[in-house]
Amino acid sequence: MKIIREIKAIREELNKERKLGKRIGFVPTMGNLHAGHIELVRLARQYNDIVVCSIFVNPLQFGANEDLDRYPRTLDADVEKLSAAGCDYLFNPMDREMYPNGLGQQTRVVCPTMTDVLCGASRPGHFEGVTTVVAKLFNIVQPDEAYFGQKDYQQVAVIRRMVEDLCMAINIVAVPTVRESDGLAMSSRNGFITAEERSRVTVLSNTLHWMADEIRNGNKDFAELEEAGKKRILDQGFKVDYLVISNSRTLEPAVAVDGEITILGAMFTEGARLIDNLSIVL
Ligand code: PAF
Repeated sequence: MKIIREIKAIREELNKERKLGKRIGFVPTMGNLHAGHIELVRLARQYNDIVVCSIFVNPLQFGANEDLDRYPRTLDADVEKLSAAGCDYLFNPMDREMYPNGLGQQTRVVCPTMTDVLCGASRPGHFEGVTTVVAKLFNIVQPDEAYFGQKDYQQVAVIRRMVEDLCMAINIVAVPTVRESDGLAMSSRNGFITAEERSRVTVLSNTLHWMADEIRNGNKDFAELEEAGKKRILDQGFKVDYLVISNSRTLEPAVAVDGEITILGAMFTEGARLIDNLSIVL
């Protein structure tokens, strides 16, 4: 695997591959790779000739009081995992390579409305940072396909919208969430869960399943279900950020006639904010 830090250099390499007619699959990440990321690489490997992964802890998507400074940086271990998974190129730029004019001067990509709710409501500016960096990475790598984890459901929806609105010729592939054996969705932030909390954090995924079962069994009082779900999480000692039943495509509050709905939740542990979701077809 070639590790490349400069935009010019990765462009030169990938131009050569493109001239040879190679199909490029891209996995953008912020590193601290776990089995969920490696699943994205595995699928990119399966359906493309060349696999490019990026590791860049993007300062533009972190709020002032968020965990940018303590976000886990584990490059050596990540390089080993990517090589073993068959990644061809790792793009690992410095902040000044990605933001040569500084964050304040950076041209931004904004996806309105859809980013005002859920994680966007509790993390103002977060999705603007995500769409801006992903648009830049897409322009640098120019992949045929890009792979994202379904755990970040809203992120995938926002990126799909950006690709559609800005006419980017990239196929976005959403990959099902990889979970620990007890159901906890894998996340780079799981390392912030304390040993004491660990057995209780499964309440998030368990609650999503409980709500989905209720809906499948005919309970269509979504507002009441959301409140009951929140209570289950609170009873385990966690603060709920949001727990909502949404239309899977628009992320607007679901109504009983919606064909596909997604239950999305976010809760705070002592040191982490965990998110998860579950989609069902009615
Ligand atoms: O999901 C992530 O790791 C990040 O939000 C992404 C898509 C790599 C953009 O920085």
